[in-house]
Amino acid sequence: MVRETSISPDDFIHPLFVTFGKGVRKEISSMPGCFQESVDRIVKNAKEVYSLGVPAVLLFGIPEHKDEIGSGAYDDHGVVQNAIKAIKDKVPGLFVITDVCMCEYTSHGHCGVIKDGEVQNDPTLELLSKEAVSHAKAGADMVAPSDMMDGRVKAIRLALDEEGLDGIPIMSYAAKYASAFYGPFREAAESTPQFGDRRSYQMDPANRREALKEVALDIEEGADIIMIKPALAYLDIISDVKDAFDVPVAAYNVSGEYSLVKAAGKLGWIDEKRIMLEILTSIKRAGADLILTYFAKDAAKILNA
Ligand code: PBG
Repeated sequence: MVRETSISPDDFIHPLFVTFGKGVRKEISSMPGCFQESVDRIVKNAKEVYSLGVPAVLLFGIPEHKDEIGSGAYDDHGVVQNAIKAIKDKVPGLFVITDVCMCEYTSHGHCGVIKDGEVQNDPTLELLSKEAVSHAKAGADMVAPSDMMDGRVKAIRLALDEEGLDGIPIMSYAAKYASAFYGPFREAAESTPQFGDRRSYQMDPANRREALKEVALDIEEGADIIMIKPALAYLDIISDVKDAFDVPVAAYNVSGEYSLVKAAGKLGWIDEKRIMLEILTSIKRAGADLILTYFAKDAAKILNA
C-alpha cells in the first residue's frame, strides 16, 4: 500500500536487431538472450514480446551492404522497412518504433556523413529525414533519432509533415552521452566507428546542466518523448529532466548495463533476477515513464507470474 514505485511490462520497450537473410537467429555473444534475427524470425520474437504484455519494440537494422552514406538506411526495401511491414502484418497491436541513425548503415560506422575525417552535421540531416520518412511509410508508429546531430528533430518533423505523416510522433535521444556502456551494442549492430569516436556529437558524461539544454532544444523542435541514455549511471539526469519538463521521459537501459548483470549472473556472483528488477525500479523511481531494456521479456515473465 505504501510502495511508491511499481514497474510493469507496459513500461517497457524491447530493442530488437533485424538482419538480412532467412531463418537467421544469431545470439550476440556479449548480450546473452539477445539476437540478430532475419525478418521471419523477428516476427516470432515480436509475437512473444507482445504476448508478455510489453507494448512496444525498437528496431535496429543490420544491412547486407554498408556504404559511405549509409544508403541502406532509407532503402524502402531495407531490412528495417521489411521488418516493420512483417511485424505490423502479423502483430498489429505491437507499437513499432525505429531507431533513426546512420551508424548501422555506414561503412565507417559514424552516425553521419564524413568529410575530411569529420562528421558533417547539416548534410546528415537530409539523410536522417529520408530514413525517418521511409520508416514511417513502411508503417512505423514512431521514429527515434539517435544520431545526436543538431537540428535533426526539426528536420525530421518537417519532412514527415510534408509527406502527410503528421501523426507520427518523434521520440528523440535527447541527452545521449558518449558512453563506454554502448560497447556490446556495437557488436550487436556491427557499428563500431572505424576511426575516431563519437565525442564530437555525443555528450560528455561529466556534464549535467548541458542535458537540460539538449532536452529543451529537442522539445522546441517538436520532440514528443525525450530520452536519456544510458540510464543507470545517469539517474540524476533522468530526475532533473523529469522535474524540469512536462513531456514523457524515456530512459535507455543500454547494452553494457545488461551485459554486466548477465555476466555476473552467469558467474553466480549476483542474484541476476533481483538485480534486474532493482535496476528497472530505480530507473522508474528516478523519473522514467518508459524504459528501453533488453530485460523486457525476462522482467515481464517475472512480473506477470
Ligand atoms: C546508434 C545507437 C547506439 C545505441 C542506440 N542507438 C550506439 C551508439 O551511439 O554508439 C546504443 C544502445 C545500447 O548500447 O544498448 N547511434
